[in-house]
Amino acid sequence: MDPLRILNEPVFLTLSRVADTSGMEVYVIGGFVRDLMLGSPSKDIDILVIGDGVAFAGQVAAALKSRPKVTVYKTFGTASLKYREDQEWDIEFVGARKESYTLSSRKPEVEAGTLADDQLRRDFTINAMALGLNSDNYGHLLDPFGGLEDLRLGIIRTPRDPFITFSDDPLRMMRAVRFATRFGFSIHPEVFESIRQNAQRLSIVSMERIIDELNKTIACRIPSRGFNLMRDSGLLKEFFPEFEALAGTEYIDGKGHKDNFRHTLEVLDKLSQRTDNLWLRWAALLHDIAKPPTRRFDPAQGWTFHGHEHLGAKMVKTLFRRFKLPLNEKMEYVARLVQLHLRPIALVDEEVTDSAIRRLLFEAGELTEDLMMLCEADITSKNPEKVRRYLRNFEYVKQRMKDVETRDRVRNFQPPVSGEAIMEVFGIPPSYPVGVIKNTIKDAILDGMIRNDYDEAFTLMLETGKKNGLNPATDAEVCREKFRIQP
Ligand code: CTP
Repeated sequence: MDPLRILNEPVFLTLSRVADTSGMEVYVIGGFVRDLMLGSPSKDIDILVIGDGVAFAGQVAAALKSRPKVTVYKTFGTASLKYREDQEWDIEFVGARKESYTLSSRKPEVEAGTLADDQLRRDFTINAMALGLNSDNYGHLLDPFGGLEDLRLGIIRTPRDPFITFSDDPLRMMRAVRFATRFGFSIHPEVFESIRQNAQRLSIVSMERIIDELNKTIACRIPSRGFNLMRDSGLLKEFFPEFEALAGTEYIDGKGHKDNFRHTLEVLDKLSQRTDNLWLRWAALLHDIAKPPTRRFDPAQGWTFHGHEHLGAKMVKTLFRRFKLPLNEKMEYVARLVQLHLRPIALVDEEVTDSAIRRLLFEAGELTEDLMMLCEADITSKNPEKVRRYLRNFEYVKQRMKDVETRDRVRNFQPPVSGEAIMEVFGIPPSYPVGVIKNTIKDAILDGMIRNDYDEAFTLMLETGKKNGLNPATDAEVCREKFRIQP
């Protein structure tokens, strides 16, 4: 099928008409053209105007039926609008420029330029292709650096000497990795060598931009590709040395341990086959992050990583802060998964009690499914028989978790007796004994001493209070009805 048939869409015809009537030279350029040539056109259109991009945006908006609002970004000299037809288009307008950056800063000195100037200043040949939109060159591909051929060959290459391209904006080194990962392309050897030499220049790029690219790499189908490229090129250690530290195996007395860099990436890839949830992918990435600092060699036990799940959960918070990732429930989610990641596999044992299963369900709560997905991906070994056996046992744990949950409903556990009821029955203010009684009830339920049931919990409350020297009010049985939780 002809990829260019998209140019028959009314939105492109309008762009073309306005370009002709205003006498401006206009192109569609960048990622849109690249994705079009790959057969998956995006909804984001980048329009390049030889002249004033912002003024052209205004004229286009006036010519479109819905008269969309134009947003102008003064600092960048760009404008954008959203336009809805059968689908929503996001159109960004920019005037062609000749740009040069000083070595020590990201602030470009911008001058107006030609199409050729603008294509030359772009990051990769595959991102520098343009299609004419004026009637005299409508749909003509302008591809001065062989971007189409590089798409066909699967190569990431820069229009200029890569040293200049990366000096202009060192973030492009991360972008090279991201596009190589997304499309399964290789990075041209000269470009790769240039990344190795310039990796340190990533230090002048803001953390937000680096992590934005990293997240896009993590979101790819096989994210390990990106991490291997980042490691081999020296980019990874510039901003994430803790992850690089996972690499390697040490032997003492002939005993080695897993290479946790490779292991982590295997877990990440396996998990990524099952979920697009970025934060669950982050949990996979960080689940063993504290193995290097907790690693010890014990002559009897061999290599140990005691407490790596606890330290790992703490490291999640430190890393999120440094990476300017959201310090909200997303961070808590990742930290809790890291904290709990050893628990399900510890239950792979016939002897395990219902009580241990209830405790895990209680602690994991809403995260149970995601935790199980993470742990299943965490089962890796060079020995396929071992993996098969573990997975079989893991299925058994999952089934038991289901059975226990159906019976005892502990996953979204709400204490059957409230603190308010305890205070009224014993006539006490908010105080330490209220917590003691609540915990006793919770533990009794999780340990299977009583059922997760209001009456059983109420009776245990009366007994526990008495044991702690508290006297129930005379109307304790009336309270039983008053505070009864309606199922
Ligand atoms: N670009 C560049 N250098 C950068 C960022 C962007 O040269 N550091 C250029 C590229 O030509 C790119 C275009 O600006 O194609 C748009 O950038 P962006 O929207 O970030 O990426 P896309 O290539 O459109 O890809 P995607 O939307 O998939 O991220």
